[in-house]
Amino acid sequence: MKVMVIGGGGREHAIVKKLKENETVTELYCLPGNGGIAGDATCVPIGATDLEGILSFAKERQIDYAVVTPDDPLALGAVDRLEAAGIPCFGPNQKAAIIESSKVFAKDLMKRYGIPTARYESFDDMEKALAYLQSAPMPTVVKADGLALGKGVIIAETLPEAEAAVRSMMADHRFGKSGDRVVIEEFLEGPEISVLSFTDGRTLVPMVSSMDHKRAGEGDTGLNTGGMGTIAPNPCYTPAVARRCMEEIFLPTIRAMSAEGRPFKGCLYFGLMLTKDGPKVIEYNCRFGDPETQVVLPLLKTDLLTVMRAVTDERLADCPVEFSTDAAACVIMASKGYPGSYEKGCPITIPADLDAELFVAGAKEQNGHLVTSGGRVLGVTATAATLPEALERAYAAVKQIHFDNAYYRRDIGKRALAAKEG
Ligand code: AMP
Ligand code: GLY
Repeated sequence: MKVMVIGGGGREHAIVKKLKENETVTELYCLPGNGGIAGDATCVPIGATDLEGILSFAKERQIDYAVVTPDDPLALGAVDRLEAAGIPCFGPNQKAAIIESSKVFAKDLMKRYGIPTARYESFDDMEKALAYLQSAPMPTVVKADGLALGKGVIIAETLPEAEAAVRSMMADHRFGKSGDRVVIEEFLEGPEISVLSFTDGRTLVPMVSSMDHKRAGEGDTGLNTGGMGTIAPNPCYTPAVARRCMEEIFLPTIRAMSAEGRPFKGCLYFGLMLTKDGPKVIEYNCRFGDPETQVVLPLLKTDLLTVMRAVTDERLADCPVEFSTDAAACVIMASKGYPGSYEKGCPITIPADLDAELFVAGAKEQNGHLVTSGGRVLGVTATAATLPEALERAYAAVKQIHFDNAYYRRDIGKRALAAKEG
């Protein structure tokens, strides 16, 4: 079977490594992939949003199955195009991907179907948004409607900050068209939980829960990043919370999408906050999370391709999905300066006997050597019977890897351990 994965980050590396375990996979491609993924799949220099390029490659190579993971090709309709060409895919079509690509859509969906989320108003007129802010409680949260590389959310502590956020999105077009509409929502408090799930539109199977660490600095300070590390399972996601999420959030969401004529097939990601009033949705993503995938998939015991194809064929109910009861920790090694500007081209040295799994996010091959090429460079994942052991092994491995100006947070998992004790 010839399989192709669209994307080129640490998440795609984790997916590629899992797909490779399936013996029926004879050819495995990653478009565009990266210098590290090249060790596990054939990387092809076609960008993830180059739909024409992807389509002609898939036809020419007679690809049997495609896995589309990043948000932008999904929002552009990559799955619709591939399926129209007769290539079965893992991933939502454009109509379903809107659950991530429009926050206004997602919020209105939750309101219509009674799914718990922060109270909100949406605006396409800046003057009305500014007027609304005058009586909004602070802090408040201003969100650009469309995709914004995870940067379109501003938590404003004061009215002037909130006004500046609205102006930057709606007048200065900081996020381009994504900010033509904004959502202004209630500030919620509580621990955050990420739950990725497999769903074929009718059945939903949650994966092991996880916790992201979005801020660049230790103690959750500094700028928001794509994610500086993850742990799984998330200790706040108790069996009682899991049951509530299933009944109040997960199943109502897939039923709502089907009722709207937008059945969701693929990986639906629930970004949750455990408030004092119970779990609420912070965001939906129409895809695997990065770096959540780098702790979730190493714990998946069932063959990934088998589960993905069951999703595509709408027979997930007949496909048992099993996770290990172990814990996993992933520490992101980034280029110093990320998410701002940073140096590239630093050679990376990795010991051959590293006692951890390595997921390459931002590195390329240069004269036979791996060099840094992105902000997030590597994800270093370890699994063990307990979270403290997994963290210890992940950090021991991180210390053996070198590149100039490497930066990583030393407190990944700290909050989770405190929650477990508390
Ligand atoms: P998002 O891109 O929607 O996941 O938002 C990025 C981050 O902003 C989330 O992970 C939360 O930490 C924070 N956030 C988003 N919405 C809210 C909210 N209503 N209240 C508090 N924090 C929020
Ligand atoms: N780690 C958060 C995301 O993938 O959006």
